[in-house]
Amino acid sequence: MNEKIDVAVLGLGGMGGTHVNAAKDAPFVDGIIGYEPDPERAALRGKELEVPATSDLDSILNDPKIKLVYIAAINAVHAELTEKALRAGKAVMCEKPMGETLEEAKLMMKTEQETGGFLQIGFELHYSKIYTETRRWIDEGLIGTPVNCHCRYYASEFHGKNTWRSNSTGTLIGEKLSHYIDLQRWFMLDEVEEVFSMNSPNVVQYFNHPDNHQINMRFKNGATANLNFLMYLGESDHRDPLLEMLEKQSDDGHFLQYHIMGTKGAIESDVFRRRLRRWEFTDGLEHMNSAIVETVTYDKSEDNRWIHNTRGQNIRIAELVAKGMSPENPASDAYQTMLAGFAAETSEREKRIVKISELG
Ligand SMILES: NC(=O)c1ccc[n+]([C@@H]2O[C@H](COP(=O)([O-])OP(=O)(O)OC[C@H]3O[C@@H](n4cnc5c(N)ncnc54)[C@H](O)[C@@H]3O)[C@@H](O)[C@H]2O)c1
Repeated sequence: MNEKIDVAVLGLGGMGGTHVNAAKDAPFVDGIIGYEPDPERAALRGKELEVPATSDLDSILNDPKIKLVYIAAINAVHAELTEKALRAGKAVMCEKPMGETLEEAKLMMKTEQETGGFLQIGFELHYSKIYTETRRWIDEGLIGTPVNCHCRYYASEFHGKNTWRSNSTGTLIGEKLSHYIDLQRWFMLDEVEEVFSMNSPNVVQYFNHPDNHQINMRFKNGATANLNFLMYLGESDHRDPLLEMLEKQSDDGHFLQYHIMGTKGAIESDVFRRRLRRWEFTDGLEHMNSAIVETVTYDKSEDNRWIHNTRGQNIRIAELVAKGMSPENPASDAYQTMLAGFAAETSEREKRIVKISELG
């Protein structure tokens, strides 16, 4: 196959809008239709996004022209919608997380294996330049063997009171941190073996789940990673890294940084400073020397491509499906990220180190 395809976007909220707009820009996409279960909301969002929209899911699943569905609905229905779409023969790009529970993630994997269908999870940071450059430096051996990785992510409370996100019993590990666990796995070039995670009492009292996590992971090769997350310090606007506000956010309590240490050097990525840096370690007479040897910065106009390239990811996925190719990031890889996240949740609940092998 190498022709234009029709696509559907299931769930037309904020992210659904991003998916619709990416599909409009995708050279391999012809028709686009949206879906929302409530007819009035379908009509409203269809009008706002200027695409046809329906509340009849079967009409999408039974339409042979629609080859690919993008799932941007609430997390609680990711597994159910993925199963229905794969069984209807559609290629599926589903937003993270792979469901809210281990059972849902397993169902998604089982369905993918049984149908042999196309399933890619929306870990779009694999397409974002600040991280693809990081990975390129690692692949080129510029920091030697990666041995430990630290991620500090502090944000404002941007989920709001009484929303599906605040009310969810699924934690922020799936909803937010799956991206950042996934990157740590990508950078450390190995699988997670065991996880120990802690969280302190909530500052945000109206969350139905913890508002902070300190996740420690050990990889099979002995490397370690930690992820330090909280959702209340950032002063400005109640949103994630807000592209037009990065200058203010960079010094008001927001942080989204990685430090990846290798045997020969280190890399720092810093979203709020629009900066990527590399250190080189050399052996000196009396001690080890460290020098910053490369600094890359980018302009505000390139924010989307550098830090949140959902658009690039989605256009690429449409191309893969139109050309009959396999997912670039297999769902089985995303599943390993989900396992590490579920291990962290289990660790917090049971206050112990959890081995990935326990989760099956
Ligand atoms: N990759 C990323 O960086 C990223 C960023 C934001 C959101 N997301 C993910 O995208 C998804 C949507 O997030 P959002 O910010 O757009 O939330 P949102 O609340 O703005 O939109 C969710 C939409 O899902 C719809 N919905 C509810 N039940 C549904 C069902 N059964 N079938 C279809 N649609 C249904 C809601 O009516 C709503 O329009 C979530 O899974 C979230 O984790 C990913």
